[in-house]
Amino acid sequence: MAMVRFSTFHLILLMSATVVMVSADLQRLEHTVKPDGPVSFLVVGDWGRRGLYNQSNVAYQMGNVGEKLNVDFIVSTGDNFYDCGLVDEDDPAFYDSFTNVYTALSLQKQWYSVLGNHDYRGNALAQLSPVLTQRDNKWLCMRSFILNAGNVQLLFVDTTPFQDKYFHETDQEYDWRGVLPREEYLATLLKDVDVALKESSAKWKIVVGHHTIFSAGVHGNTEELVDKLLPILQENKVNLYINGHDHCLQHITSSDSELQFITSGAGSKAWRGDINPWNLHEMKFYYDGQGFLAAEITENEVYLAFYDIYGNILHKWSTSGNTRSAS
Ligand SMILES: *[C@@H]1O[C@H](CO)[C@@H](O)[C@H](O)[C@H]1NC(C)=O
Repeated sequence: MAMVRFSTFHLILLMSATVVMVSADLQRLEHTVKPDGPVSFLVVGDWGRRGLYNQSNVAYQMGNVGEKLNVDFIVSTGDNFYDCGLVDEDDPAFYDSFTNVYTALSLQKQWYSVLGNHDYRGNALAQLSPVLTQRDNKWLCMRSFILNAGNVQLLFVDTTPFQDKYFHETDQEYDWRGVLPREEYLATLLKDVDVALKESSAKWKIVVGHHTIFSAGVHGNTEELVDKLLPILQENKVNLYINGHDHCLQHITSSDSELQFITSGAGSKAWRGDINPWNLHEMKFYYDGQGFLAAEITENEVYLAFYDIYGNILHKWSTSGNTRSAS
């Protein structure tokens, strides 16, 4: 079956990646998309709670929508396993919160995941380990990497090390192996992101990270990303920034560029109820319950839809680049 071969390909990639790590470039993956339709994928974030807090209901509807759209792959915006990531590669949470939850046939596609702050509270390296991909061949988690899929480039960015407060918290431990010295790690990452975006010839550019840039949710804006990452996204005309972290579904538009800020962090526990005031011209949609995002992208159009746990579309939006429409 093609998918098995694809995963084997990834394992080889992962192994060769450790060899080329000295050149600071980001790893590049190619996802061969279906020839006869848009590039389509689902995005879910902040999910791993052993099916609880509606995680299983979100998974069920992802299965339905995934089948309807014949999705090419799934994106996870991080906080994959609560409360503290995985203990090690043998942690049963991997099965209880992932393999045995996302069981629909349409979800047995390649997942592309980043780490969230909660993942860093456990053994971060365990989630990056190829051993997990051997156990469930749809799993793939890396810190920062480039995914080319047809006319779309997705650039995954490890955002947790940007946030100062994690380095000053005294009541939480974070697994910073591979991240220190921090200033060097962040400087290299920002340079690599800039270079990757400049080199890209993709029609549509999407950046994925765990943390918000802009959000009216409880965590709010991530000032470090507003300062350091946002200017690079704007300069390189990125179309979408997609994140989790706030446990909601949210769409904030820009008044001065094409860049849209999309939060899909509603994979399980939600309903916090607190929403901060936001400029109504920019706030297109906010929902603090559970759900996920679906994206369909053709040469000429990006179409986004947010779904709830009943399979209802809560908000949809599309763009053809310079002209926009919303409903
Ligand atoms: C599950 O979803 C339903 C419908 O949105 C909601 O009423 C309920 O509070 C949710 N349960 C939890 C535990 O979040």
